[in-house]
Amino acid sequence: MTPFQIAIDGPVAAGKGTVARLVAERLGFLYVDTGAMYRMTAYLAQQEGASMADEVALADLVEEAQMDMRNPNDEEKDGRLTTVLLNGEDVSWKIRTEEMSRGSSQVAQYPLVRQVLVSKQQRIAAQQDVVMEGRDITYRVLPTAQLKIYLTASDIVRAKRRHLQLQAKGQDIGFEEVYRDLLQRDHQDMTRPADPLKQVPEAWVVDTSDLSIEQAVEMIVAKAKILMDYAQTQQS
Ligand code: C5P
Repeated sequence: MTPFQIAIDGPVAAGKGTVARLVAERLGFLYVDTGAMYRMTAYLAQQEGASMADEVALADLVEEAQMDMRNPNDEEKDGRLTTVLLNGEDVSWKIRTEEMSRGSSQVAQYPLVRQVLVSKQQRIAAQQDVVMEGRDITYRVLPTAQLKIYLTASDIVRAKRRHLQLQAKGQDIGFEEVYRDLLQRDHQDMTRPADPLKQVPEAWVVDTSDLSIEQAVEMIVAKAKILMDYAQTQQS
């Protein structure tokens, strides 16, 4: 059977992680957070003292790194959406700081880094049914995904959510700084020459500004089930 792929793109803090994780859980699919891979790259650069300006060195680091993601096991259920392992080290929380957010957007500008990460992502999605979220999933990583979604929300709603998330983690950053960082990161993601964030025409646009997480998840699960049934009738 061909794996079923749900590809989700969207701007910072649109709710992609939470929604994708829950949809994956409902359908029994693997949830893949590709942003975590760009974050791991920034973390690796910091650990190895690599220059953020050296594209080739960064791509080499990524090529050699073992990047794994799995659903959190019983000891790991501390609010994380996924367990992220870099060369066997649990970096699930270490990559979630604002410093790593900025670093990840910087390394994401480099075509060589993207190429290596995209191949890793495609290998994961070739082996099992996935819900994969990021910025270039609908057109670069999984261009033939059976369901493509552009998940978004207004700037202010997203900044408020991000601010709350950081506060919950004990990171005391003012709202204005969070808002400014979010706009800056969106701008960088949408205007970079290498695979910018964009809305492909065939994507289903889900705006979560006025939706609860549960409502967004319900809508997506319902649509996925219809498409899966349809795919099955076509195959039999
Ligand atoms: O999704 P998250 O905010 O964790 O992603 C961190 C950064 O990684 C994004 O701001 C973006 O620059 C980059 N990214 C990307 N392509 C993806 C996923 C993330 O460029 N597929």
